[in-house]
Amino acid sequence: MRQIAIFSSGAGSNAKKIIDHLLSKEKSNSTPVVSLIVCNKPGAGVLDIAEKAGIPVLLIEKEKFFRGSHYLEEFKNREIGFIILAGFLWKIPDGLIRAFPERILNIHPALLPDYGGKGMYGKTVHEAVVAAGESQSGISIHVVDEQYDHGRIFFQARVLLEPGETAETLASKIHQLEYRHFPEQIGRWLETFFQQKQND
Ligand code: GRF
Repeated sequence: MRQIAIFSSGAGSNAKKIIDHLLSKEKSNSTPVVSLIVCNKPGAGVLDIAEKAGIPVLLIEKEKFFRGSHYLEEFKNREIGFIILAGFLWKIPDGLIRAFPERILNIHPALLPDYGGKGMYGKTVHEAVVAAGESQSGISIHVVDEQYDHGRIFFQARVLLEPGETAETLASKIHQLEYRHFPEQIGRWLETFFQQKQND
């Protein structure tokens, strides 16, 4: 199954890059497709992006999401095989992780294992990196497990902090790094599954 759900609850700029990247690929039976956007915030920018791309949206409710398997049926019916977290802030419940073992990928805007964990998202991450006087930061693309920002790191890329760097300038550099690498690395990650399947 190459149907992907993107979980995103913000502006959705990464989701857009991923959608555009996959659409630009030559179509075959094995081309991955983004067939669902999952969002927990009515009015989020990603909803417009989904609408323009003609991709269905599932607006989820907190209580149902955390109650366990409520949305699993929906993902099964839509034949979702992989989940990409791109700006999704809720912790993924264990039931969902068990239903998609090694099949959920997240992007974090820092070099894990540093500057990750509960509460470490968005501007807070960049402020912490700048305040600590770090000489570099970056992005981490990792497999999701039961702990926040903890699973196997699949890919990292770095940027140098310059004199006078602020959380805002760093955030913009990190976004550029995400756009450059995330869509391509998703493709590479999916390939590892299909190669493995062929070898089985
Ligand atoms: C990205 O910086 C990503 O690393 C983090 O959330 C942000 C999402 O931004 N997990 P956008 O919604 O894709 O613009």
